Amino acid sequence: MADRIVIHGGVPLKGEVSISGAKNAALGILPAAILADSPMVIDNLPNIQDVNIYITMLEKLGAKLEREGDRLTVDPSGIRFENVGLIVEEATKLRASYYILGAFLSRFRKGCQPLPGGCPIGERPINLHILAFEALGAKVEITEKMISMEADELTGAEVTFDPVSVGATINAMLASVMAGGTTVLHNTAKEPHVVDVANCLNLMGARISGAGTDTIKIRGVDCLHGVTYSVVPDQIQAGTYMIAAAATCGDILVKNIIPEHLEALSSKLREMGNEVIEYDDSIRVIGHRPLRPVNIKTMPHPGFPTDLQQPMGVLMSLADGRSRITESIFESRFEYVGELVKMGADASLRTENVAVFNGVDHLTGTAIKATDLRAGAAMVIAGLAAQGTTEVYNLEHIERGYVDLVENFRSLGADIARVSG
Ligand code: UD1
Repeated sequence: MADRIVIHGGVPLKGEVSISGAKNAALGILPAAILADSPMVIDNLPNIQDVNIYITMLEKLGAKLEREGDRLTVDPSGIRFENVGLIVEEATKLRASYYILGAFLSRFRKGCQPLPGGCPIGERPINLHILAFEALGAKVEITEKMISMEADELTGAEVTFDPVSVGATINAMLASVMAGGTTVLHNTAKEPHVVDVANCLNLMGARISGAGTDTIKIRGVDCLHGVTYSVVPDQIQAGTYMIAAAATCGDILVKNIIPEHLEALSSKLREMGNEVIEYDDSIRVIGHRPLRPVNIKTMPHPGFPTDLQQPMGVLMSLADGRSRITESIFESRFEYVGELVKMGADASLRTENVAVFNGVDHLTGTAIKATDLRAGAAMVIAGLAAQGTTEVYNLEHIERGYVDLVENFRSLGADIARVSG
């Protein structure tokens, strides 16, 4: 039998959980280390599969690494362009491998890589990344599986993104920090991890202003230095525990976070009737019944994050009435709805990007699968809230992005275990 998480549900979660560094920030900061002219120390690095794959890529590219707990020291001096052929396997597994392209363009004025992998949540083009690389002066060539590019020199340029893209914004920053002149990026993503990567680059000596707004200005510098940088807390992992508290009618203090990053979620949880109390660096969520139905539409930050819509689908399945989710960032992010239906949810797709949830009295445990990373977390929450036993399969998705998920839920009182083979 395959590896699975087994949950005997129905226990209201109680206690405290501390949140690790953010996956999506870490995946931007690790490639930033490629640009340093001396060793970088990255703290609060989450111990997740995606980060581990990135670390393997850096090592294969020639970096010297030392890892101790959540601290990683990266000496990038041995990184060679010629080593890109060694990371094919890792790069195809991980969408954020595209940041190596931006960082290599900055450092070597050329990049070459297989097209990136990642979660199966619909078409995920990289045309906006290429738009930025080309605007800076790169000649880009794409074959069926590979992307390669080269620039005689990189020159600051104006780039407008449409739609807003987290990946393209971060990649354009990585590619332009050492370009000649000034680069202006319009319609940029405002996610906390975008700001975190900009903060890290600025500490390294970059001159980036406006991160967290619609327009980012980057004045090119000659070199960047290694610094010690601590990754911002993961608002998606935090939000997952907040939703789990509400779904199990529990009472959880989520610690080591930046509450402002979770405002869109906090307000929806309150609208549903839960208590959400914000402190300086923690949030307490107390779940209440009945849950009122709500509608959400996923939007770029500060709107409701697409990465939390799947866990919210679980909560909506338990509300007293009809809720609706409109997914405006990705197609194919509703595959989990079919899994929830197996547990007794009354949920269906109205269109490809609109799902409707008619609340039911309870969910019932059964065998379900994680259809992607965030859907996997949603399935675990569904199991925690359900009556009876739930088995969640396809754990490789969940382990890409959640630190100690099973252990943390167990310490909050859940009857949950990871079972191998
Ligand atoms: C990042 C996150 C992911 C999150 C998503 C949205 C990382 C490693 N991953 O993904 O967890 O779900 O932001 O918050 O940070 N698009 C284009 N052309 C492009 C790039 C994107 O059309 O070149 C479109 C996408 O198809 C999508 C939208 O832009 O519809 C937003 O995607 P984007 O913000 O780029 O997501 P990722 O960076 O892939």
